[in-house]
Amino acid sequence: MKWWQETVFYEIYMPSFKDGNDDGIGDFKGLREKIPYLAELGIGGVWLTPFYPSPKVDNGYDVSDYYAVDADFGTMADLEAFIAEAHAYGIRVIADMVVNHVSTEHAWFKEARLARDSPKRDWFVWQDTPNNWESFFGGPAWEWDASSEQYYYHSFAKEQVDLNWRNEEVVREIWNVFDFWLDKGLDGFRLDVINNLTLTRNFPDNPVDANGEQVHIFDKDQPGMDAKMAEIGAYIRGKGDYFTVGEISSDKLSDIEKYAGTDGLDVTFNFNFGSVASRDGIVAELSRMQEVYADGRMPTLFFGSHDMSRSWNRLADGREDVAQMLAMLMLTAHGVPFVYFGEELGMADFVPDSVDAMRDVQGIYAYDLELEAGRPADEALRVAQDKTRDKARAPMWWPEGFSQGVAWIGEVPPDFERGRRMFTFYQALIALRKTADFCEPGYRAFDVDGALLMYVRGDYLVCLNFGEAREMENRWGNLTEILANQSIVFDAETVKLPENAAVIFKVGEQ
Ligand code: NOJ
Repeated sequence: MKWWQETVFYEIYMPSFKDGNDDGIGDFKGLREKIPYLAELGIGGVWLTPFYPSPKVDNGYDVSDYYAVDADFGTMADLEAFIAEAHAYGIRVIADMVVNHVSTEHAWFKEARLARDSPKRDWFVWQDTPNNWESFFGGPAWEWDASSEQYYYHSFAKEQVDLNWRNEEVVREIWNVFDFWLDKGLDGFRLDVINNLTLTRNFPDNPVDANGEQVHIFDKDQPGMDAKMAEIGAYIRGKGDYFTVGEISSDKLSDIEKYAGTDGLDVTFNFNFGSVASRDGIVAELSRMQEVYADGRMPTLFFGSHDMSRSWNRLADGREDVAQMLAMLMLTAHGVPFVYFGEELGMADFVPDSVDAMRDVQGIYAYDLELEAGRPADEALRVAQDKTRDKARAPMWWPEGFSQGVAWIGEVPPDFERGRRMFTFYQALIALRKTADFCEPGYRAFDVDGALLMYVRGDYLVCLNFGEAREMENRWGNLTEILANQSIVFDAETVKLPENAAVIFKVGEQ
């Protein structure tokens, strides 16, 4: 078994986790102080969002130097000290790798735009006439470069210019970037929008659906993507016992799972599961996942990230029993779990009350596009509040506060009582998740009865009642309750499951 198959990961949104130097921005010094907290929770690996130098148009997902640490987060020595200490606690560290695009402030792009015959020109994607492709943040994906008189391609913000992965020099440079960070002691990478790589010179227009929305067909999963994903996975695997998780921009299981496995990356994020808008489809999707991944590969399990509203609001409707039910699913099902920072405390969304309070480019973009379309400011604000990913980016709830300085983004008033209860629940689940029973691949039994999900892992039965209160026949024999989110009444014949009940039983001899 590989180490990552037994690991519970924890996503750390760098600017929001812990500020160690009181400038209002999270950093490596603060992060290092909190390693004991992560160890107490039982975390085995952390995923750090980008910490490389960046003008931060997209909060670090616009890298301007791949071989350094942004001063906001500290120094290279701070990063190295953090990695060494995390390792001493048995915590692995993986980092975000944003290699689909670079910042327009990156030296490579500055050189490329100098002239059409610049040696770096072909590192990017240029056209005389743009096609209809839209950026994933909205608006056109092509930006006019006045100095060299061509359009460059940007699948996200116009300050995030796409690399041309057809160019072999680009590929070699990215291998160097991987080598550099693995040599620093990292344990693997989370690869940002990795199926978006530009691999062709063929730019057909994307179709537009009945609502006038663009369908992103030709600007991702381009011909050659399967082979390129396999090459990236193989390159990193060839360097040692490292882990790769791919962010695949799709919410279709078939698009997502095909890139996971020994001929791709180790795992890929299941957005079809983790970022859904309500909890209605979760049980059905897990059923599909258990079929697709019955071949020994692993799906990912998560309900939150820095790109979506927090699961406390989006999926749990602010209810602790539901939040705990989701946690039980995520930490006991077959897959690699990723806890989003603060989720273990029941942290809630931050909703900026004005566009000035907004920090996320996606929300700000949406606001500007609405105004351009002639919508009044209050309507534009509502659309932007819906789109902004600031919701999940408010600072972590620490008893002593996040920072002595003013935080870079608005804060959500903490509820420490809830935090303590949620933490204890997560901690118990994570401890159980690390036992041999929950590390076994797959399920010994998997059963869906309406909104009731039941599965057996090792000697444990997990019952998650996504529906109304009901009774179920006890066909499992002797049951011993191990952990539950509310009180459960059961005997040798029946188990009474209240609405949103989540319970783990040990099955067998008493
Ligand atoms: C996915 C990242 O998770 C998101 O935060 C970012 O805006 C885009 N990729 C572009 O890099």
